Amino acid sequence: MAVLPILQLGEPRLREVSKAVDPAELPQLQGFIDDLIETMKAANGAGLAAPQVGTLLRICAVHVQDNPRYPYKPNFPLTVFVNPVITVLSDATESVFEGCLSVPDLRGRVDRFMHVRVDALDRHGKPFSVTAKGLIAGTFQHEFDHLDGLLFVDRVTDSKTFCTWANFDAFHKPAFVEEAFAITAKYRD
Ligand code: NI
Repeated sequence: MAVLPILQLGEPRLREVSKAVDPAELPQLQGFIDDLIETMKAANGAGLAAPQVGTLLRICAVHVQDNPRYPYKPNFPLTVFVNPVITVLSDATESVFEGCLSVPDLRGRVDRFMHVRVDALDRHGKPFSVTAKGLIAGTFQHEFDHLDGLLFVDRVTDSKTFCTWANFDAFHKPAFVEEAFAITAKYRD
């Protein structure tokens, strides 16, 4: 397994639409998927999409386990999504601070749907569905946006909310942690 370099904002591949994976090719992609997961873990990411490491295929990994970058985010088991399709199940949205491993030292507020279903293939090509509420639903939207060449900065509607990570910690974190816990309580099953 290898930790891969993560492309940074301005790299043209981050702006391309990734191709659907032919399930017949998944046996040859297992090593890549292991590297994607390893890279996400090494960077303390909550998720990582294949185009972020320069592979323009519709694959991403999500894993939240007591994440130090997002300490308010509920845990979610390691899941690999191949060719994910997201369906919004409710109009409800919340404004949440996001960051991205491809956007150095910047956070900003994005409105995300709070109840979604995802239909995808697992890393071996088996179809599965997952329904998500709350902050993890937003994480899925963030990761799947990468597959369409979109970054969270494109979704920030109020540019005054942009801040560095240090200034997030200094000025916004305590209030947002309260908001995040309220969101988690509000959308609990
Ligand atoms: Ni990202």
